[in-house]
Amino acid sequence: MNKLPLLFVGILLVFSTSWIGLVAYPYLKLGRLAPEASRDGLVPPPLTASAIGGERVYAANGCIYCHSQQVRPAWLSTDIEKGWGPRQTVARDYIRESPPFLGTMRTGPDLTNIDVRRPDRVWHYQHLYEPGTVTPGSIMPSFRFLFKVQPIKDRPSFEAVAVHGPHAPPRGYEVVPTQDARDLVAYLLSLKHNYPLPEAGDPPAADAGK
Ligand code: HEC
Repeated sequence: MNKLPLLFVGILLVFSTSWIGLVAYPYLKLGRLAPEASRDGLVPPPLTASAIGGERVYAANGCIYCHSQQVRPAWLSTDIEKGWGPRQTVARDYIRESPPFLGTMRTGPDLTNIDVRRPDRVWHYQHLYEPGTVTPGSIMPSFRFLFKVQPIKDRPSFEAVAVHGPHAPPRGYEVVPTQDARDLVAYLLSLKHNYPLPEAGDPPAADAGK
């Protein structure tokens, strides 16, 4: 008996069911997700031009190799207990990002809500310049090349980053961020997914995740 037609139908079935499962169903379920109206405007909020530039700097410098941006549900992990966010992240949290930096490694903490934990721009500049100056013993690499060390002209720049100790610039010099550093920090300060979304459940309290 010729089993070729049966084999052909079998192969077609395998391919079509995986296409439905992996392409069509996710597209129908997630492809048309839109921002949600909340009392603070649309969420997730749009990124500023600087933050969009910062996404590129984040990608180019391999931050994703050590940092994730996904808070897993309480039944599956201790992410919420660790204070990485008041609720699990859901697909809608990522619709403004292209591509989303979910990450697979956590050599450093999850950054989904870093703006809630560390809203201070200067702290981020100091940390990127030399992580050990603000987090003693840090193993995060320094991103010094995102800064300029320049001679102080008449008076210090308003953007000069205070760096003390062995990593301080020589006398008469100052550390100032480049546009890449400004954009990267604008991006980090846009990472704040603590607003309620219907499919994610309400955060326990308005200021949760701090
Ligand atoms: C080799 C791994 C590694 C890479 C690459 C890395 N980090 Fe980190 N990062 C860490 C570790 C470890 C910590 C925890 C210690 C500390 O705070 O410095 C950390 C901490 C942080 C924190 C503070 C988190 C908190 O909860 O206080 C921020 C913000 C951060 N990193 C941003 C970045 C950015 C932006 C990049 C890319 C430019 C980057 N990291 C690249 C390992 C890394």
